[in-house]
Amino acid sequence: MSPTVEQHAENWDLRHADFNDPDFLYDVYTVMRGNSPFARTDNPFLSATPSGAWVAVRYAECVQILQDWEHFSSSPTPEGAEQLAGDLVITLDPPRQQKFRKVLNPYFSPARMKALRHEIAAETDDLIDVFIESGSGDLAEVAWRQPGIVFFKYLLGMPVDDVPLCVELTDTALNGATEEARMGAWGGLYQHLHDAVTARTAEPPRDDMIDVLLSAEIDGEKLAFGDVVSNAMLLVQAGLETTASAMSFAYHYLATHPAERDRLIAEPDLLARAVEEFIRFAGSIHGIPRTVAKEVELSGCTFSLGESVIVNYASANRDEEQFPEADRCILDRRENRHLGFGAGVHRCLGSNLARLEFQVGLERVLTRMPDFTLTAGAEAKFHGNSVTRGFRSVPVTFTPAARTR
Ligand code: HEM
Repeated sequence: MSPTVEQHAENWDLRHADFNDPDFLYDVYTVMRGNSPFARTDNPFLSATPSGAWVAVRYAECVQILQDWEHFSSSPTPEGAEQLAGDLVITLDPPRQQKFRKVLNPYFSPARMKALRHEIAAETDDLIDVFIESGSGDLAEVAWRQPGIVFFKYLLGMPVDDVPLCVELTDTALNGATEEARMGAWGGLYQHLHDAVTARTAEPPRDDMIDVLLSAEIDGEKLAFGDVVSNAMLLVQAGLETTASAMSFAYHYLATHPAERDRLIAEPDLLARAVEEFIRFAGSIHGIPRTVAKEVELSGCTFSLGESVIVNYASANRDEEQFPEADRCILDRRENRHLGFGAGVHRCLGSNLARLEFQVGLERVLTRMPDFTLTAGAEAKFHGNSVTRGFRSVPVTFTPAARTR
């Protein structure tokens, strides 16, 4: 028999198959937030902690943890450190973490992103062209391919042909059925990037992120080769599945809410706010760990040295104390200080890119197939027992139109 909502809330296990449902996990979060600011899990999704972990589920405590890196460090537990290959920006604390960001930040500046708008629109159009003449297609294909193509081609400097393999390896690394399959996929992704970066060392420099990592100096020293590969791998992993799953949710939502779809077409100025709401409502990550670096008390709970605390951004984003009608997707929501991109020193480095890809992805679909709806009788496929959740298939029907080229 499946556990009840209350049983799930007692011991949160994100890999449980019950969460392959768009709403049930949020019912569990409501109970978790009602019980206490901190829940427990025996099976942390990303952190290797044999004794389980705390889970911060309310908005206020999540923000406090994210802003207090001196007590809640991003360095993994000793068990977690064994699984890491290299110094990653996301598992470092300041001041070294800030120096890594200084190296990468210019590549994600608003000005650089703005200059990419035209290319992102053209890449999205190419993906829509695959099915636009037929009057039916799968919008998950657009959501899952566009972020990878854009990132590999215009920022990272990896061949676009590598995108499907990297998406598949990242997916298996996060969601594979066994620990062995997951570790095998991490290894495969690392090896793939290792080979790609090695090949680049023999080529003349280009203006892309692999070269930036290869030539970067921190405290007067170049990055170790392993750190270049690991950070390239982090970028691939952080930038693909997150944006793709959030965008797939938005396509499904608009395909099943035609009045909302029509409103976005009639009021395109709402798009930016709608993207923020999609990220708050469904696009956020469901937990990244912190390790307690010094004993500390927060909201009546004492955290001891070495314990693991998972920050559940997605649950925080549904906290009624912060967001009125938190369980409603309100496309023109005004006050929306969501935690979808995190907060504090590790706030998402790629948020400007993700927002642009997302906005352009919506804008091109709404412009070119304005009457799209979920295909009657066909099934949308949702994958939800994962740290990022989204649709793997969104079959839609619409009035056929001409290709762009
Ligand atoms: C909708 C899409 C995205 C979401 C929801 C998202 C979410 C997040 C969150 C919650 C964090 C904070 C992690 C922490 O607190 O430890 C983060 C960090 C990060 N994100 Fe994103 N992200 C998205 C897209 C991207 C993209 C497109 C890239 C790059 C191509 C990217 C690269 C990174 C990196 C490198 C970090 C680590 C920053 C640091 O540790 O200083 N993300 N992201």
